[in-house]
Amino acid sequence: MRPLPVFPPGFRWGTATASYQIEGSVRADGRGASIWDTFCAEPGRVKNGDTGETACDHYRRWPEDVALMDGLGVGAYRFSVAWPRVQPDGRGPANAKGLDFYERLVDALLERGIAPFLTLYHWDLPQALEDLGGWTDRDTAHRFADYAALVADRLGDRVTAWITLNEPFVHMSEGYSLGSHAPGRALLLDALPAAHHLLLGHGLAVRALRGRVTGDIMLTNNYSPVLPATGDPADRAAADAFDALQNRLFTDPVLLGRYPDLTAYGVTGLPFVRDGDLALIASPIDGLGVNYYSPTRIAAPAQAPSHQGPSVLGEVGDRIQEAGLPFQDTPIEGHPVTAFGWPVVPDALHTLLTGLRDDYGAALPPITITENGCSSHDEPGRPDDDRVAYLDAHLRALHRAITDGVDVRGYFVWSLLDNFEWAEGYSQRFGLVHVDFETQERTPKASYHWLRAQLESQP
Ligand code: FCB
Repeated sequence: MRPLPVFPPGFRWGTATASYQIEGSVRADGRGASIWDTFCAEPGRVKNGDTGETACDHYRRWPEDVALMDGLGVGAYRFSVAWPRVQPDGRGPANAKGLDFYERLVDALLERGIAPFLTLYHWDLPQALEDLGGWTDRDTAHRFADYAALVADRLGDRVTAWITLNEPFVHMSEGYSLGSHAPGRALLLDALPAAHHLLLGHGLAVRALRGRVTGDIMLTNNYSPVLPATGDPADRAAADAFDALQNRLFTDPVLLGRYPDLTAYGVTGLPFVRDGDLALIASPIDGLGVNYYSPTRIAAPAQAPSHQGPSVLGEVGDRIQEAGLPFQDTPIEGHPVTAFGWPVVPDALHTLLTGLRDDYGAALPPITITENGCSSHDEPGRPDDDRVAYLDAHLRALHRAITDGVDVRGYFVWSLLDNFEWAEGYSQRFGLVHVDFETQERTPKASYHWLRAQLESQP
């Protein structure tokens, strides 16, 4: 094993998961239905008809999972709270049993010296709110702030970091624009109000959390450095258009108090934005969560769909093109790809981090990498050397960014466990720990042992 460079003292090492992807027990203790329960029940939505009904059975096996983290030697754990466990219908008083579960988890983590990083929303909206319009309805933002306050009133004194939303771009684009995730709506650009209401929900939640919590308040976005397919001005313009959507739509309003230029999409006004909204959305945060998996290569749109191979957007890319959006994704050649087909480009993490610093300057709060990792063709007994190589190379790129002056405070591997990978069901395994979904047996992979050995030599 080649030791990693030494990270700064106090750097947090963790693993990440999300409620719907691991918990199961979808009807236990008064939990209401979420949009993912509904989506999974619709034929053809999720690969192999998989659902999160049992997932990793974490709701019952969580002590074993906490012990796995303890054995790994990480000092932090990022998990998410399922809103429908706390408010089964998305409004009204808290369901105490739902909060009890997270309180037990948080206390068990703290006993082992593992800092809880709590995400309030990792895409499992109460179905009752979706029935009223979901994130396309402004009221959902207010409901989200009420829910945030309920969780904070119970756990505000113990949680190290509060992440309002996970990857609102993916939730908006896949859930509301393209329909490949729950709630399965294909509104294309008419999904923009959902973007605004997610941002507003974030801002209102920040205000609700301030004063109620002792920990940091953050937002997690996914970023993908955008490479123009060629130097041609049309490709460059397409890359800029995509960058505005993928990387800026949920960052500029939060850090700069304004929306990026969306004129490439024919968007010249945002009638759903009300006076005072942007000030709320730009409420100061203590940290930015950065999820990174791979870069994107973008070209000007062609006449006909031409998706040809591994690319970040996959089949969704074809639908974007059919919808007449001003870009198309193109394969990135010359790099290995993960089991998902995502290109492995560790240098792009360095580019991303130095780019965030250069673009946002003093407006950029300290960064935590809240997700990074890869799926691989894992079988018990086969060492996941490809995952070790992925993590090793990305951590070296991250270290270079820190050496180059980017303020990065922590790194969370996605994921602790193999889990329910949204529309891909159980077909994509991201865990440091193998899960046999028949027996729920957990088996640490080679990458788990590798990370444990690396952490022993970190401060
Ligand atoms: C991210 C999600 C996370 C997981 C990884 C692979 O976009 O936040 O839940 O699915 O991708």
